[in-house]
Amino acid sequence: MECDIANMELAERGRDRTHWAGQSMPVLAVVNERFARERPLEGITIGACLHVTTETANLMIALAAGGAEVSLCASNPLSTQDDVAAHLVRDHGMPIFAVRGEDRDRYYDHIKSVLDLKPSITLDDGADLVSTIHTERTELIPDLLGSLEETTTGVIRLRAMERDGVLRVPVVAVNDARTKHMFDNRYGTGQSTIDGILRATNALLAGSVMVIAGYGWCGRGLAFRARGMGASVIVTEVDPLKALEAVMDGFRVMTMDEAAPIGDMFVTVTGDIRVITARHFEAMKDGAVVANSGHFDVEIDKEALESLAERTVTPRDSVKTFVLPGGKRVNLLGEGRLINLSAAEGHPAAVMDMSFANQALSCEYLVGLPERLEPKVHRVPDEIDLEVARLKLEAKGARIDELTDEQRVYLASWRAGT
Ligand SMILES: NC(=O)c1ccc[n+]([C@@H]2O[C@H](COP(=O)([O-])OP(=O)(O)OC[C@H]3O[C@@H](n4cnc5c(N)ncnc54)[C@H](O)[C@@H]3O)[C@@H](O)[C@H]2O)c1
Repeated sequence: MECDIANMELAERGRDRTHWAGQSMPVLAVVNERFARERPLEGITIGACLHVTTETANLMIALAAGGAEVSLCASNPLSTQDDVAAHLVRDHGMPIFAVRGEDRDRYYDHIKSVLDLKPSITLDDGADLVSTIHTERTELIPDLLGSLEETTTGVIRLRAMERDGVLRVPVVAVNDARTKHMFDNRYGTGQSTIDGILRATNALLAGSVMVIAGYGWCGRGLAFRARGMGASVIVTEVDPLKALEAVMDGFRVMTMDEAAPIGDMFVTVTGDIRVITARHFEAMKDGAVVANSGHFDVEIDKEALESLAERTVTPRDSVKTFVLPGGKRVNLLGEGRLINLSAAEGHPAAVMDMSFANQALSCEYLVGLPERLEPKVHRVPDEIDLEVARLKLEAKGARIDELTDEQRVYLASWRAGT
């Protein structure tokens, strides 16, 4: 079996950590058990490009339990947990192509290795598999049942492909399931971004000024958690509604130009490009910390920072200090890549439980359809979303009321008024 991983000797640790994460993934465990009984994915080849973490390992194991042949490469050069990769190869015989710190060429070689296995379903986190299929591997398109997309940026790319009339495979936007983005993006990114910043810097959040660019699902989660730890939070936005929401949530809202000289820490979570750039670095305080938690490493203009700097120092893992003329220091975390995955472990398993149950059930949905969906971006069916919410509530021991017949009729009627 072909694979490319860092070190097989790490497998033991990867196995133990994967089991540990699995204990916080009760919804995926229910899906796994049913899949093992019913084998709905028998004969299906699944190629995944996801962050190679303990949570993803549990997803891969559930898909294999359902009968699928699965292979996996990384969706970010810095997010791979090498012990997890080794565990999946040694204990589950899966072809894994992921090495933490791989360069761009090796990253794309790994994507191609997964595509060489001719997947009938692909799982993407950022749309790199689908875009490579459309540019270099078009021969795979006719046999592709569809692709699942995990993150906001991927869904935006795929919608752009659909709009431009070039999307040739059906895509299910797992990110847009409510049991995904309302929880994973908000609570998952919120907590794990802070985790990454703290592991990278060991900074004290209390009393510091954190500037958050983007008040979407991720930014909102981050802002509330940072405030909860005592930071004074400033939000920058381009959408007047989101900005107004931030104001009403009690945060200061201003432009990045206004925030640059005030902030101690800056975090981008916009999915946009060059949100922090040269003039902002020039305006920042000495010792400012800059990090990104949006999907691609384009939100912070790293090239501008490089060219402003006279020299660089690496005082800690995941921190690169750029010394500007006059001696001012700007600290870039995790090379401007997803800080929660580059300096920490990504989202807690308890939240990936819901995201990955959506992934597994959406695979089953694609396989069970009488014919292939239209080559468009599709929603996760409501039944899957509600099933994931129901199972998660059950796992948390929370029960909810049921509508009475009278209430059902009342809520469906327009006749009853004042
Ligand atoms: N770190 C992670 O693990 C993780 C998890 C989920 C999503 N993501 C990524 O995080 C990014 C944001 O995801 P989301 O679900 O919050 O998206 P979202 O669409 O809900 O929010 C993005 C927000 O950024 C704002 N924005 C855009 N350009 C801006 C600019 N120049 N300045 C300030 N604000 C700007 C938008 O108006 C929007 O409100 C995406 O790239 C997504 O893929 C990362």
